[in-house]
Amino acid sequence: MLCSCTRTAHLGDNELYWRRNRTLLGLDVGSSAVKAVEITLHGPEPVITGFAHMEIPAGSTAADVLPELMKQGRFKARRAAAALAGPSTVVRYVPMQPMSDEELRAAIRFESDKYLPFDVDECRLDCQALEALEPEAKTRTVLLAAARNSLVDERVAQVRSLGLAPECIDVDLFALANAWELCAPPEADGTPRGAVALVDVGAVRTSIHVLANGRTRFSREIPIGGTDMTAAVARRMSLDPVQAEEAKRSGEADEQVAAAAAPVLEDLANELALSLEYVEHHEGVVVDEVLLSGGGALCAGTREQLELAVQRPVRWWSPLEGLRVDESRVDVEQLGRWTPTLAVAVGLASRVRAA
Ligand SMILES: Nc1ncnc2c1ncn2[C@@H]1O[C@H](COP(=O)(O)OP(=O)(O)OP(=O)(O)O)[C@@H](O)[C@H]1O
Ligand SMILES: [Mg+2]
Repeated sequence: MLCSCTRTAHLGDNELYWRRNRTLLGLDVGSSAVKAVEITLHGPEPVITGFAHMEIPAGSTAADVLPELMKQGRFKARRAAAALAGPSTVVRYVPMQPMSDEELRAAIRFESDKYLPFDVDECRLDCQALEALEPEAKTRTVLLAAARNSLVDERVAQVRSLGLAPECIDVDLFALANAWELCAPPEADGTPRGAVALVDVGAVRTSIHVLANGRTRFSREIPIGGTDMTAAVARRMSLDPVQAEEAKRSGEADEQVAAAAAPVLEDLANELALSLEYVEHHEGVVVDEVLLSGGGALCAGTREQLELAVQRPVRWWSPLEGLRVDESRVDVEQLGRWTPTLAVAVGLASRVRAA
């Protein structure tokens, strides 16, 4: 099941490991909106059998809107995969001597001290040796994922409070990659697929994940997102935050919005360009194209400004591409409206295939 190592890195205690189940809810608790996508396996085919999206109104929290989200979605799944993101989560690519999985698990706790911004006893940790790129390589890259205990416990409690059993607690960065793997499975004839950079622009952060031939090579979060663009639009166009949000979404003043958001987009574009440069110089990976998702990227000027900075094609991709939707259970119009924001939820629900 390791067509992407990302699929195996989950941050659970023993009770969070996989169990047999053919329906799974991917629950993405974002900073500005909560999304849920249910995938059911019909034989080997993953089918979207449920969907709901709710924005978190100013002054409210995700906990306030999650019960309504569940009501809206009328899901049949009893289990959910959720994710964590932000500074209390860590994903690192650590060079280590080749060793067995068992040895690795023991060794990583000592090694991880160097890579974690918090005490190893304060966090849940998972690791996965990546496939060696050269058979004779003296070191193996190990993917290390960690999250503060308090954050994992909070998310588990949140899932349980909705009457769902937590299947696994993931990291946004991995869920993003897993959504891509679901929509773009490896070529049957083994033809290399080249390298892509998935870029999901959320409200408060942007996730970048570079995959070369389906394998993870680099990932990072940048603390810039749609909220920063809204603030810039409000400032530059002398609007209050509600009006600025409306201006971003209405499409009626796109030129002014793009100009107002330009300084934020420039910062984001520079960080992305730096990341791609790093990948090319340190990993020897040439990224062919950048694939955009996330509501933040809907802001006018985003695609164009990123493309200018990274000097290669930047295009939208749909995390629903190639997936059948059960129209008797899903509001297809709403699903279509929010598709750009669903990559993480789809990636979480895609773990149904590992069950
Ligand atoms: N039509 C639109 N035009 C421009 N911006 C939009 C549009 N719809 C949503 N957004 C922006 O998208 C952002 C929300 O996107 P998304 O749902 O992907 O974020 P999130 O998952 O809640 O955030 P994060 O991942 O950072 O926690 C908000 O900043 C919002 O302003
Ligand atoms: Mg998000």
